[in-house]
This record gives sequence, C-alpha cells and structure tokens, in this order.
Amino acid sequence: MDTDTLQQVGFLDMDIDPSLDLFDEINKLKKEKNAIVLAHYYQEPDIQDIADYIGDSLGLAQKAATTDAEIIVFAGVHFMAETAKILNPHKKVLLPDLRAGCSLSDSCPPTLFKAFKDKHPDHLVISYINCSAGIKALSDIICTSSNAQQIVESLPKEQKIIFAPDKNLGGYINKKTGRDMLLWNGACMVHEIFSTEKITKLKNRNPDAKLIAHPECEEAVLKLADFIGSTTQLLKYAEKDSAGSFIVATEAGILHKMRQNAPQKTFIAAPPDNSCACNDCPHMKLNTLEKLYLCMKYEQPEITMDEDIRLASKIPIDRMLQLSTQLGLIG
Ligand code: 13P
Ligand code: SF4
Repeated sequence: MDTDTLQQVGFLDMDIDPSLDLFDEINKLKKEKNAIVLAHYYQEPDIQDIADYIGDSLGLAQKAATTDAEIIVFAGVHFMAETAKILNPHKKVLLPDLRAGCSLSDSCPPTLFKAFKDKHPDHLVISYINCSAGIKALSDIICTSSNAQQIVESLPKEQKIIFAPDKNLGGYINKKTGRDMLLWNGACMVHEIFSTEKITKLKNRNPDAKLIAHPECEEAVLKLADFIGSTTQLLKYAEKDSAGSFIVATEAGILHKMRQNAPQKTFIAAPPDNSCACNDCPHMKLNTLEKLYLCMKYEQPEITMDEDIRLASKIPIDRMLQLSTQLGLIG
C-alpha cells in the first residue's frame, strides 16, 4: 500500500502474523519510539488495557497538552486526535483508523455554522469539544461534558451565548444554569438511542439499581437519572456510591473500566430503542488492537491539518484548559 492510501484508509487490508503477542509488540513499540497511547473509555477492552492513559475528553486533552512523548497514538475518534495535534504541532499524532469520525461532530458543518453565527454577532460561541477544528476555529471557548457547566457559569449572566453542536448537553446546561443559550441542533447517535420505556421496565425489575447517564442523552432519559456526568464522572460516582448496581446510559465501552474498578458491583447497559442489544459507538469501535499495532509500527495514518485552522482552533482550546486549571477541573 502506498503512503497516500494508508493515509486515507489505514491498514484495513493488512494481515498480521497470528502468532504475535500484540500486547508485547505494542509495549515494545511504545519504548522504541517514545510513543504514548491515549485511549477513551469507549474503546474496546484490549485497547483500554494497553493504553498509557484512559480518560474522558477533558482528561485526554489535558494529557495531550502535557505529554513529552514524541508520538501520540490516539485511540479515540478524529476530533480527539485532531485536538491533540492542535496542541502538539511538532509531534506525530496517529489515529489507528482515520475513518473514526463522530456523528455529533458531523452534525455541525463549519459553513452552515458560520452563517448561523453571523446572524447572532452579539453572541459568544461555546463549543463542545466533539466538533471539527473548523468549528473550533469559529468558537470563543471549548468545553467538554466535565466542565461545560463551570465554563458557562464563568461568563456574566447577561452574556448571550451560542452553544454548539450538542442540543442535549446544551439543553441540560441551560437547565442547570438558568441560562437561555441558543442551541445548535446536533446530537450523538449513540446517546439518542436509549429507550425510556425499556429503561423504566429495567428499573422496575432492578429497584435498587441507580440510573447514571451522560448529558448527551435526551432530556427524557436525563429526567429519569439518579446521576448525570461525563464518562469519568460516571465512573467515579459508580465507584464511590453505596449502591450495588447501576444502569449505565452511555456508550457500552465504559462498562469495562467500571467492572475493573468496582468488581463487586453490577453494571447493566441501558437498553437502546431498537432490536440490537448494544450501545456501541460505530466510530469508536473502528479502532482495533490490530490497527493500533499497525499504526504504531508504520506511523500511519497521521493527523495533519492546515496551519491557519490549527492556530485559530487552539485559542478556544487553550482558554478551556486554562479555565479548567484555574477551577481545579481534571477529566
Ligand atoms: P466525555 O468523554 O466528555 O464523557 O464525552 C463522551 C463522548 O461522547 C466522547 O465522544
Ligand atoms: Fe461521537 Fe457519540 Fe461516538 Fe462520542 S459516542 S464519538 S459523541 S458518535
């Protein structure tokens, strides 16, 4: 495969010697190349287990901003790896499968968003990190689900705000803060799939189980929740809370870490509103251990970007990181 093809598709057609212990091989490559593997909680269990750092979007951005590794291997989706590249223009940032996108990010194309923004020149733009560099470049400050409330509250009450791209997170923050932010009409395909009817039945069958939900879920699901938070906040809550079982309304990959960290507790994936029994993010799950190994071995596919967009998108990310440090917020 030539470099261009690799850059576009990654290593989809390449065979790997089945006798290789990929954990050993990846660990060797990490040392040889001074590479760090950053993984989101929605990655498959093997990838989480080989990662040097697992976190939510805020934690991953904070880690990417401070690592001294020469190569960042991002086991997550494109906007996450892109954020790492924005923060580290001189490092190589690799994404095991370059097609790992995000439905939420895709729901907000920069040209349409620019036209929307231009109609509201007196509004400040807060964008959820789940967006492209093009949207970040049009934003005043970035937030994640870990710090969205505090970032909104750091602005004067009378400040007019556009919140993009997630209408569910934006609506939730409007409720929490009493603001009236203008919301872009975007959503995550995974978090919109849960069935309140099936969740209610599950709760009735498991009366002691607490429902914990990610704020990307629809309002009807959030209304039923005992606790709402980012993936790291859900994980910490499930570990510390006295309940012995939890119904988890977010992508199912997080259950791996929950079960590792609290093996005595029961974790049930919240049921989706379709006949399939899983809430896997199809984008996150494009990354596999095999692709992770190949991308480290060949140092492809690599994240590249236009320097003007990089510089413009770094400003609102830096603001978020600075504010998070000031407020003591860690993902
Ligand atoms: P957090 O990592 O901020 O919890 O967001 C979840 C998510 O959907 C990432 O794609
Ligand atoms: Fe995007 Fe949703 Fe997948 Fe996260 S879970 S990467 S928000 S589609």
